[in-house]
Amino acid sequence: MEKLIISGGQKLEGVIPISGAKNAALPLMCTPLLTDEAVTLTNLPRLADISTLSDLLNHMGVSIMIAGGSGGRAKGRSLTFDASNITDTVAPYDIVRKMRASILVLGPLVARAGEAIVSLPGGCAIGNRPIDLHLKSLEALGAIIDLEQGYVRASAPKGLRGGVIDFPFPSVGATENALMAATLAKGTTTINNPAQEPEIVDLANCLRAMGANISGDGTEKIIIEGVDRLHGATHAVMPDRVEAGSYAVAALMTKGNILLEGARASDMQAALDVLTEIGAVVSEEPNGIRVKSNGHLHGFHLTTEPFPGFPTDMQAQFMALAAIAEGTSSITEAIFENRFMHVPELCRLGADISVNGSQAVIEGVDTLKAAQVMATDLRASMCLVLAGLVAEGETHINRLYHLDRGYERLEEKLRFVGAKVDRVSA
Ligand code: EPZ
Repeated sequence: MEKLIISGGQKLEGVIPISGAKNAALPLMCTPLLTDEAVTLTNLPRLADISTLSDLLNHMGVSIMIAGGSGGRAKGRSLTFDASNITDTVAPYDIVRKMRASILVLGPLVARAGEAIVSLPGGCAIGNRPIDLHLKSLEALGAIIDLEQGYVRASAPKGLRGGVIDFPFPSVGATENALMAATLAKGTTTINNPAQEPEIVDLANCLRAMGANISGDGTEKIIIEGVDRLHGATHAVMPDRVEAGSYAVAALMTKGNILLEGARASDMQAALDVLTEIGAVVSEEPNGIRVKSNGHLHGFHLTTEPFPGFPTDMQAQFMALAAIAEGTSSITEAIFENRFMHVPELCRLGADISVNGSQAVIEGVDTLKAAQVMATDLRASMCLVLAGLVAEGETHINRLYHLDRGYERLEEKLRFVGAKVDRVSA
């Protein structure tokens, strides 16, 4: 087991290269299942979740090869995926339980192979994470769904047909499964109230490059005209808006000045608006977004919402910010039922936070004090890293495997801008 040791108090200044987005890369890695031609993805981040999904795809018979040049500060990895010979349409429990996003193979597999058997993902630290909307979407396209012994079997022996999918609320994963499946369904599919996140648009861009006929992605209605087959393509993964937002918070908390190289403001406007409102000077530059402090740090009130609202994936990071902001802040988590696991750990560092149901009220304190803390889930871990950057003394953060799921080269990137952080074996 490894841990991070962070000595707080450094003002962070310099350039942080933003990696490809984990939450775009994962659905994008499932698109090769839709075609028997090779698909190359560039700017892939080096993350545990990417390795886990690669293992699952390998298990199904997809060959994955390192493609052309990569490296450099802002470049990710390029991999070529070849699913011309799918040998297994089962996603086993021991892989799916490690990463819920494995469920994203369901739609492509049913569409291409006429069958998929995927272990139910089970819950995780932030909630029970059901997949009812994924299943209802595929049923709307003619798939037959059976649940047996903890697995969901979806089949469409005669192929999928176009249909109308109405989401009661915009589920990201369910939208991605429906979008991928509909590209090969016979006829027209309409998805009403889909997720509008930038990762959905990135996925649609890749599918269009493969020959899919999609319009309306990023709006409240997506129309897909099914085609007989898709062909290979090359697609660059979009930059990670959650990583960028996390480091933007670090700039403000440490009263620093960081250029988020490769970040796109249009992906994260709601978060940037809050930062500007409370004390950041945010400016778009040719190769990224610059975030620096104007010397103040005012309290704020926010509620997490589907895109374009404030993203739930940045909630924990902004709570670290609120912990040292002037005055009273409040954060309401309206997407997941249990995404305040970072609160008790933040309080161990001296934060003054009270939680009542889905709302946390934070009284800003002048300083946080270093302590031993434990990561519980991916974004909660980053919240503790951010607090450690300003806490007096050495903060030790355990259970780093959570962090490694979503933050590529974290300590290296923080050291680029002057942080004192080391990874040691616990
Ligand atoms: C994606 O998860 C992201 N993961 C999450 O990021 C992100 O927090 C979430 O979208 C919301 O933006 C990936 O993209 C790999 P949802 P997903 O379906 O697709 C409920 C991170 O930290 N729901 O939009 O699972 C669900 O329980 C991760 O990078 C149903 O009820 O999110 C939740 O309360 C964490 N039925 C809400 O909808 C369903 O069938 C939003 O879930 C599906 C979801």
